[in-house]
Amino acid sequence: MAETHGSTAMSATGTTGGTATTTRLLEVEGLSSAYGPVRALDGVSLSAEAGRITAVLGANGAGKTTLLRTISGLVRPVAGRVVLDGEDITKASVESMVGRGMAHVPEGRGVIAELTVDENLRVGALFRGKVGKDEFDRVYDLFPRIAERRNNAAHTLSGGERQMLVIGRALLAKPRVLLLDEPSLGLAPRIVAQIFGLLRQLVDAEGLSVLLVEQNARSALSVADVGVVLNLGRVVVTDSASTLMGDEDLRHAYLGF
Ligand SMILES: Nc1ncnc2c1ncn2[C@@H]1O[C@H](COP(=O)(O)OP(=O)(O)O)[C@@H](O)[C@H]1O
Ligand SMILES: [Mg+2]
Repeated sequence: MAETHGSTAMSATGTTGGTATTTRLLEVEGLSSAYGPVRALDGVSLSAEAGRITAVLGANGAGKTTLLRTISGLVRPVAGRVVLDGEDITKASVESMVGRGMAHVPEGRGVIAELTVDENLRVGALFRGKVGKDEFDRVYDLFPRIAERRNNAAHTLSGGERQMLVIGRALLAKPRVLLLDEPSLGLAPRIVAQIFGLLRQLVDAEGLSVLLVEQNARSALSVADVGVVLNLGRVVVTDSASTLMGDEDLRHAYLGF
């Protein structure tokens, strides 16, 4: 495990183009989580940097969702730590996470079907108190498709539009770390490429850190800087996205392409 973590540090430093200071915004150290007798995470260590997309890849049941749920406090770990910007948040409340700069977009694109796009964004912003018009405009600028449909009921949206809406809603919390659980699930490749392209633009422009959980490893690696491969709750390998993409044995064994 120490070796795996060491390789994270190396590749993370490598991706910053030789800059001495790497901003490890989020650090996960030896994290283990269980559902009763089921050990879903077993000593997982990884880090995510500002301005980088870190992809967490692995088959169904690998522990990806549990990892995000443990980071955001929905599942309490049996061992290990979660550190955000140097502060141990392992025991912090779920409610405090938004204030700490963490936003979690769960799997499934949950929206309130009867409300319009605009109303969904407003409801999503409620917990933040005052949200300026410019902040809504920023979301609409990022996702013009959503802007066009702002007065349509959410149940009329396509899967891709819904995904843009839930990401936009999370961005209203002004996160420094964005946790995304399987945003590509069930979407056409063209739509996935569009959403991931927008994500890349956002990360490059605003320097936020994205932890992108995906079974769709090929698409995720095409947009990510670093990849972490999970299998049965453990980290198999951590390396740059391009190295993982080029490792045919690894792809066949764990990534399904
Ligand atoms: N609520 C739960 N209760 C019991 N076991 C669960 C629960 N959620 C997930 N698991 C188990 O934990 C393991 C990891 O699941 P999960 O984190 O959902 O993986 P992934 O998101 O990679 O598909 C699996 O063995 C799964 O069956
Ligand atoms: Mg999952």
